[in-house]
Amino acid sequence: MKTVIEPFRIKSVEPIRMTTQEERRELIRAAKFNLFGLHSDDVLIDLLTDSGTGAMSVGQWAAMMRGDESYAGSPSFYRFEAAVKNLMPFRHVIPTHQGRAAEAILFSIFGGAGRNIPSNTHFDTTRGNIEASGAEAYDLVIDEGLDPQSPYPFKGNMNLERLEVFLVEHGDSVPCVMLTITNNAGGGQPVSLENIRATAALARRHDKPFFIDGCRFAENAWFIKQREPDQANRSIPDIVRDCFAEADGMTMSAKKDAFGNIGGWLALNDDGLAEQARSHLLRTEGFPTYGGLAGRDLEALAQGLAEIVDEDYLRYRIQTNTYIIDRLDALDVPVVKPAGGHAVFIDARKWLGHIPPLAYPGQALAVALYELGGIRGCEIGTVMFGAHPDGSESPAAMDLVRLAFPRRTYTQSHADYLIEVFAELAKRKDSLTGYRITEQPRLLRHFTCAFEPL
Ligand code: F0G
Repeated sequence: MKTVIEPFRIKSVEPIRMTTQEERRELIRAAKFNLFGLHSDDVLIDLLTDSGTGAMSVGQWAAMMRGDESYAGSPSFYRFEAAVKNLMPFRHVIPTHQGRAAEAILFSIFGGAGRNIPSNTHFDTTRGNIEASGAEAYDLVIDEGLDPQSPYPFKGNMNLERLEVFLVEHGDSVPCVMLTITNNAGGGQPVSLENIRATAALARRHDKPFFIDGCRFAENAWFIKQREPDQANRSIPDIVRDCFAEADGMTMSAKKDAFGNIGGWLALNDDGLAEQARSHLLRTEGFPTYGGLAGRDLEALAQGLAEIVDEDYLRYRIQTNTYIIDRLDALDVPVVKPAGGHAVFIDARKWLGHIPPLAYPGQALAVALYELGGIRGCEIGTVMFGAHPDGSESPAAMDLVRLAFPRRTYTQSHADYLIEVFAELAKRKDSLTGYRITEQPRLLRHFTCAFEPL
């Protein structure tokens, strides 16, 4: 059969509060045209993020009842630790409340003024933690990764030539090499096993520890299985183990590929580094057998890790994006191709060519999707990246809108509805206007700034 069905039944539901276009026009106006300002029960389909927003399984809810809340040595921790080590065989696994807490700990060790840290593309919080320590963050993704139309199968790959030059040039000031799988900031695009191995080998040759930001490791492994020579007959857990066997450590947001609503970890092999990390953890997160989490959260993650590597799930997960991208493509909506792991990215600058970048075409599209269809996405463009510390502003490299899919949460009819909203919008897109920012904070303006239509 060609139809890929959702590989689950629904036992418990969250009603969606239906709203009309008129109501939504008022609601978004009241939120000053900033989608982060909406109440989420005024949203029909919430594609703001895939982080912590997924549905947990019966197995996870059942496991939560087993959660042991002992301050030290909880059996829930040992089940969590075993589940992580089963896929990522690091010597030390340190739980944290989410991914950025693991990053903060890692860069309290590796960061600092004068240090330079390369990755394919650092996620915002990773970059934020590096820069807050005084170090500098560099993105060295391959050129195909910056071209929305390139069909290259592994657009998240590290540019190895640039990394080599970088390591020679920056020498001792480089404390580690990072790699984000999948490359979220670059469209959820995967990194090949070959590229992971080559990046690790290069780091080793220069005597640098190699760390993976593994948030979407299972989606990445699925792409490796589908697209990389000689991987088609291998199991997902085997591919995952091969990826992490190359690394000296990892940071993880368990709100993504561990099916958690909260959670994360830092894992590493080096005993000395682990000791430093644990003493930081004790100060900021909690005792090393719970980090920033409850015992029940650790149980949910242990079970989630067993479920996320299921091939029926991963096939359905990636097929959802492919299904939507193929149909948007047929409507001539410019989408980032090929389909990434967790989100569909629309090239708003191209689609709304009549709105100049400094009038925020991504914001115009995101607001229109909400008004017309009650869909909440996220502008990833000039609103997010266009403001500079000196108060000036320039267009970002791209003006995209990200529609990120919570795991196991929406069904194909939600996808069909989304496609219908785009078909309707296609008819009236030339009448959309740009926006102007009327109030903004100094940093991370996209979360709270106020807009006015032009
Ligand atoms: N690394 C990557 C690649 C991420 O996508 C995220 C979060 C983090 C680290 C930080 O993890 O949220 O648990 O602290 N990404 C979310 C998103 C917020 O919407 O893409 P966290």
